[in-house]
Amino acid sequence: MKKALLLIALFAGIVAAQPAPTYAAGDGAVPPEMEWSFRGFNPEWDVEQIFRGYKVATQVCMACHSFKYIKHRDLMKLGFSEEQVASLADEMGLGLDDKLISALTTEAALMSYGTEIPDLSLMNMARPHGADYLHALLVGYEEAPEGVSVPAGKHYNKYFPGHVIAMPKPLTMDGQVEYPEGSKVEPTVDQMAKDVSAFIEWTGEPILVKRKTLGVYVLLYLLIFTILSYMLMKSIWSDVKKK
Ligand code: HEC
Repeated sequence: MKKALLLIALFAGIVAAQPAPTYAAGDGAVPPEMEWSFRGFNPEWDVEQIFRGYKVATQVCMACHSFKYIKHRDLMKLGFSEEQVASLADEMGLGLDDKLISALTTEAALMSYGTEIPDLSLMNMARPHGADYLHALLVGYEEAPEGVSVPAGKHYNKYFPGHVIAMPKPLTMDGQVEYPEGSKVEPTVDQMAKDVSAFIEWTGEPILVKRKTLGVYVLLYLLIFTILSYMLMKSIWSDVKKK
C-alpha cells in the first residue's frame, strides 16, 4: 500500500509542477496574484464580471485599442441572447458581426503616442502573469522615483517592463464607467481594472474554461488508470509468487 501511495504522490507531484512564468531582472515588478474565477481547480467564467469588463473595454480602452478578434456575436457564447447582444452592438453603431476596432488609426496613434497601440484581444496570453499583470498595470501608475526621468508624454508605471509607458493612465477615477443596474460591485478604479482584465482573459480564449475542465477529467482518468494498473500488477505478481 505504501508503494501505491508513493506512486500517487509522485503522480500528483508531476501534475502540480507546472512551469511558473519567468521574469527577467530589470523588468516590471512582479504583479500581485489575484483571485480569478477562471483559475484554480474549477475554473469558470464570471459572466457578470466579463460583462462589466466589456463596458470598461468598450467605453474606455477602445478609445485607443482594438479587440480585433472579437465581435458582439461572440458575447452570445456567454449566454446573452441575440437581441441583447444586437442592442449592445447598436449602442456602439456596430453590427453583430463587426469586429471591435478602435477609431484611432495607426498613423494617429504614432503621432500622438510615438508608438503603435497593441490589439488587446490576446493580450493576457501574450504577457507573463496574464490577468494579474493587466490588473497591476492599470493600477500601477505612480510618481517616478527620485532620479528617474520620464520623457515628456510618457508615464511611470511600476509594472511595465522598463517602467516608462506611452499609455496615459486609462482608469483615473471611481465611477468612470457606469456599471449595469444591480451590479454587486462598485466601479472603483481597482474593480474596473479587475473586470476589464477578466474580459480580456475571455477575449483571449473563450473556450478556456471548457478546456480546463476537460483537463481535470483527463487527470482524474489518468489517476484512476494508474491505480488500477498498479492493483493489476500486484495481483498478477501475487499469483506468480504463490506458484
Ligand atoms: C489614450 C489611449 C489609450 C487608452 C484609452 C488605453 N490605452 Fe492601453 N496603451 C496605449 C498605448 C499608447 C500603449 C503602448 C504603450 C507603450 O508601448 O509604451 C498601450 C499599451 C497597453 C498595453 C500593453 C502593455 C504591455 O505590456 O506592452 C495594455 C495591456 C493596455 N494598453 C491595456 C489597456 C486597457 C485595459 C485599457 C482600458 C482600461 C487601455 N489600455 C486604454 C494607449 C491607450
